[in-house]
Amino acid sequence: MYERLRSQGVDVTDLTESNPTRVGLHYPPGLLDALAAPEGMRYEPSPRGLPQARKAVASWLSHAPHERCSHVATKLAESTARRGTCESRQIDPDRVALTASTSEGYACVFKLLCDPGDHVLVPQPSYPLLEHLARFEGVEPVPYPLSYHGTWRIDLPALAEAAGSRARAIVVVSPNNPTGSFLAPEDHDAVTAICRERSLRLIVDEVFNGYPIDPLPGSARSVLSASAEVLTFVLGGLSKAVGLPQLKLAWTAVDGPDDEVEPALDALDLVLDAYLSVSTPVQLAAERLLLAGTAVADQIRVRIAANHRKLARLVAEHPAAGLLRTEGGWYAVVQVPATKSEEALALELLEQDHVLVHPGYFFDFSREAFLVTSLLPEPERFAAAIKRVLARAAGTP
Ligand SMILES: Cc1ncc(COP(=O)(O)O)c(C=O)c1O
Repeated sequence: MYERLRSQGVDVTDLTESNPTRVGLHYPPGLLDALAAPEGMRYEPSPRGLPQARKAVASWLSHAPHERCSHVATKLAESTARRGTCESRQIDPDRVALTASTSEGYACVFKLLCDPGDHVLVPQPSYPLLEHLARFEGVEPVPYPLSYHGTWRIDLPALAEAAGSRARAIVVVSPNNPTGSFLAPEDHDAVTAICRERSLRLIVDEVFNGYPIDPLPGSARSVLSASAEVLTFVLGGLSKAVGLPQLKLAWTAVDGPDDEVEPALDALDLVLDAYLSVSTPVQLAAERLLLAGTAVADQIRVRIAANHRKLARLVAEHPAAGLLRTEGGWYAVVQVPATKSEEALALELLEQDHVLVHPGYFFDFSREAFLVTSLLPEPERFAAAIKRVLARAAGTP
């Protein structure tokens, strides 16, 4: 229906928009100039990635998000720094492997850790593509619940129960899409203990890690800020880190006990060598892109903070609706009266109010009724669309 409306010239506001190149951000001129470096004419493939690119990524990962801000550091970043939520630790470039995307990073790690039919434990609700990424590798995604009690936390007993004999890894998304929940330090300890007891590996997707909104004390830090007790794979990429999804560069940082990390990296090299999917120009440009891209990440931080504040104010005007706590990331979850199904509400919103918004079931919420909105859209259109969403949900459009 979305395509039909658009082909009829209807101006639909897309509250599912997650593409930063489509939301009116200012990309510094010359940002892509580094892709034209003459060295890019040579092809000298390296499975794990070119050393200078891995060094650039390791250095970027070694800095807390607030230290990565450009000279126009935002108030939010300053306040995050004051709260001391981030710590720095030197990351070894030899423990960083490059892929074209985070999705490819998942695929490589699943190949590395699992045989066909093995299980990986995945959070629920979470990023819908996770299930497909696992299945494409012949791996069974077994959900474990996150539960909301004013903040989202991992249901630890349910996680332990889900870890059967075929389980090989636990996936954590921090902050999670769409719940916006960071991995709480206590949950990290508990998940590590489960991994240790059951010989499981930990995969932590930190693509949105640089975007805190309202984090719990101590939660908005990378798991890389302290050395890992179990073999851990931390995923991220330019796509979210600096709003450049079209450049196709992502990374997997491997951490944990030395006697497990080294064999894992060797095995990962074998997988990566079969594809060699990352282009030379983007690797040569990685350092400049990460540096110059901070100007884009800063704008995204300002945008999501402003839209989140506006959303909170608008939701507060509708007693029957509620905004779930968003610790970080690019999305927010609004609870709406369950007077009709999420599907029916989303369709009405599209057809009658010309607003496209994701129903909660899309992310496997355990019950209705929730709507998930991106915080990236341009602020005026965002506010106008949210007003229509809240009015329709309240039955007073
Ligand atoms: C939680 C999460 N992980 C990974 C990705 C994919 O990132 P990439 O574009 O680097 O493949 C997304 C994309 O939206 C995401 O939401």
